[in-house]
Amino acid sequence: MKIELSENKVFYNDNGQKKEIHPFWLRERVNGDQYIDYKTQQRLFDPTQLKENVEISKLKLSENFLEVSFKDGITTKMAIENIIKEFSTDSDIKLIKKIKWDSKLKNFNYFDFNENFFEEKLMFDALTKFYQYGFVIFRKVPTSNNFLVNFANSIGSIRRTNFGEYFDVKSKPNPNDLAYTSLPLAPHTDNPYRNPVPCIQILHCIENEVSGGYSTLVDGYTVTEQLKNDFPEFYEILTEIKIRFQFIDESVVLESWAEMISLDENNQFKQVRFSPRLDFVPLLEKSKLELFYKARNKISELYNSDDFRIEFKLTPGDLLMMDNHRLLHGRTVYDANEGNRFLQGCYIDYDSTEGKLKYLKRKFNL
Ligand SMILES: [Fe+2]
Repeated sequence: MKIELSENKVFYNDNGQKKEIHPFWLRERVNGDQYIDYKTQQRLFDPTQLKENVEISKLKLSENFLEVSFKDGITTKMAIENIIKEFSTDSDIKLIKKIKWDSKLKNFNYFDFNENFFEEKLMFDALTKFYQYGFVIFRKVPTSNNFLVNFANSIGSIRRTNFGEYFDVKSKPNPNDLAYTSLPLAPHTDNPYRNPVPCIQILHCIENEVSGGYSTLVDGYTVTEQLKNDFPEFYEILTEIKIRFQFIDESVVLESWAEMISLDENNQFKQVRFSPRLDFVPLLEKSKLELFYKARNKISELYNSDDFRIEFKLTPGDLLMMDNHRLLHGRTVYDANEGNRFLQGCYIDYDSTEGKLKYLKRKFNL
């Protein structure tokens, strides 16, 4: 990408494709003290109050800078590097390539917690692994006084739900969800009935005295890519039909309509939702439902298959942070008579992890 001038106009040249940069685009990026607050990078003027027919009176281009004078009397000097940066629509996060994994994954991403952790480069590394694999496990995280809440709020901001700021996962009488029993939990994503669905779940192990109760994870990205390859018809219908996910409690009815596999604007993987205890397909014609049920059975078979699932034991102080839009999680059965199994959970959203990652990237000049 190169910046070029011709007849008092600014052009960008992208591999021989030369296009003019709108003068207004340059005008709303003027960067003197009067026009921008350097700390926040927020404008000190409102560009919607400017006349649209902004014109350039003078231009000067050097190796690293473009100087522009506008006919309204404003002059600014812009770094070429900053102009070029703006042509990338991919965020730092999108540039981190997802790594597909299955049951053969052996090297889990473990990071030891310390007091300054949230300000260290190690945290940047942990967040990068999180975006690559969809999960990361922190060890030696303090277990007293609901430290989980501090942890979540040190990355970003906790996402409060009707379950509260955080929830205790242990077997209890009259549970309103099977999570609060000692029964096994098949792979699922959390809260598909919310709009928006919480992006990230954090589970912190406080006590684990039982021999069972292993945590399980499945990479929904790997599974859906395999489905796309082996059973394209199934993949298609699961990306197409919106189904109703619902959660009904004494004081709330939560409902959201969404596909089991959601794609982004480029038809690439975006999100999976899977919770077969609370999904309801609309009354479609019989042949379509026939295909839908076959497809749902197949994806369920893959999600539950030993080929894709990893199993591991969380010990006190371990904190699992997982992408609830990408991974499925569950646990194996345990015997509550053997002792306590107590995890605490909460949610945060992508703005937390993205914000922290970008902040650390800037801090360490990465
Ligand atoms: Fe869950």
